[in-house]
Amino acid sequence: MNLSRRTLIKSSSAALGLAGLPAAVAWAQTKSKPIHLTTGFVEKELRPGGPMANFWGFNGSVPGPVMRYRKGDAASIMVSNGLSVDTAVHWHGLRVPNAMDGVPNVTQHPIKPGENMLYEYRVHDSGTFWYHPHQSSFEQVPRGLYGAYIVEEDKPIEVDREEIWVLSDVKISANGRQVEDFGRILDLANEGRIGNQVLLNGNAVGANQKFAVRSGERVRLRLVNAASARIFNLKLAGHGITVIAYDGQAVEPHVVEQVTLGPGMRIDVVIDFMQKAGTIFSVTDSGHRGAGEIAQFAYSSEKMLRDKPMAAPVRIAANAIVAPILKRAQEHFIIFQGGMRGAPVIGNVDGQPTKTQEMMEKYGLAWTMNYTAQHEHAQMHEPLFSVRKGEHILLHMINSTDFAHPMHLHGHFFKVLAINGQQTRFQEWRDTVLMNPRDSMDVAFVADNPGEWMFHCHILDHAAGGMMGTIAVE
Ligand code: C2O
Ligand code: CU
Repeated sequence: MNLSRRTLIKSSSAALGLAGLPAAVAWAQTKSKPIHLTTGFVEKELRPGGPMANFWGFNGSVPGPVMRYRKGDAASIMVSNGLSVDTAVHWHGLRVPNAMDGVPNVTQHPIKPGENMLYEYRVHDSGTFWYHPHQSSFEQVPRGLYGAYIVEEDKPIEVDREEIWVLSDVKISANGRQVEDFGRILDLANEGRIGNQVLLNGNAVGANQKFAVRSGERVRLRLVNAASARIFNLKLAGHGITVIAYDGQAVEPHVVEQVTLGPGMRIDVVIDFMQKAGTIFSVTDSGHRGAGEIAQFAYSSEKMLRDKPMAAPVRIAANAIVAPILKRAQEHFIIFQGGMRGAPVIGNVDGQPTKTQEMMEKYGLAWTMNYTAQHEHAQMHEPLFSVRKGEHILLHMINSTDFAHPMHLHGHFFKVLAINGQQTRFQEWRDTVLMNPRDSMDVAFVADNPGEWMFHCHILDHAAGGMMGTIAVE
């Protein structure tokens, strides 16, 4: 058997802190009282009275339970694997110690069927996050394993109500069961495997998704895109939407007509519902497979709560993230190539220069980052680059493909500085940023969290198709 590079790293890189990967633990070993998350099989209706669809879920539900903490809390979560395959859970957007990051074969051993793993870490940042397996995520996520993870601010902004919308989709056949065609090269090499039924909090979207509101109300809506490939572009008729956070991080509040969420991304918005009692307004999606109307806000007949929008400010307190200083930043470049429609490229697969066609046919790979196509976690190549802890990094990303890619970095937030050379208006912090076809993007961050961190496309089929790598912080 050939000893993969990954195995070598594990046995020889105490410097990276990867040597003693955390392993599954027994129930009895836990000190604190953990919250339990158990993966398993779920049968559920997508609409009231509809046929039962087969899912995988956490604690028997899709989405999984909402995890809720206060900033600064110590989280203690026992994940038990009730599936018949390995898993590992990643806390998307949380700046956790590397060993708690949930990436099989990189930060931990996979959790085998019937085993448990205790994840313990402090939640440093407030915001809207989410959790999902990082093991075969192109299959485990669309099967239903995902949930929202909310960390409240020290002083939450004043609103009348808060809602969480976990958006996703599922591929359902005529008999109402999931189509189990995960990992097809045709999907991997194109826009990803997009479901034919959009879900909002696990229910089929459409007219049955009616949210009652009262005139005069202020609602904070936390949007999470948990779909494996679908990009959402949401609009709410008759109302302005005030964006207050991207990926959980405060941004200068600004009113927009629509919000775009690539897979993995979150947006917190505030909506003042100031229309008349008894009226109805639709939320529509015009993403690249626009789902049309996905929900309605229906004003009740109650009398107005207030006749002017609530005066309280909507700006949320910023988390402490060290700002990169560009003058002293180390520059790095990552070029993305490949895909079905792209010009043929040569990618390095296991050290061999390989043409796109062969990459697809022989290895099921379709994408490269810096000319390298990665297999799944178990046999990954060397990090894209390695830096010293505390280094300031300016990363130029060049999307040389005809597809959009939501790029996600683990363990850190980066500042989105420029798109195609144009400064972004809000210089926002993100953990996942959507690169449109042929775009180039400059982002910067301080590499202050030690370990080997995943950097990958959050179209999970693209990640499985080669678009992933790691950045090592030593
Ligand atoms: Cu949401 Cu690498 O993951
Ligand atoms: Cu991609």
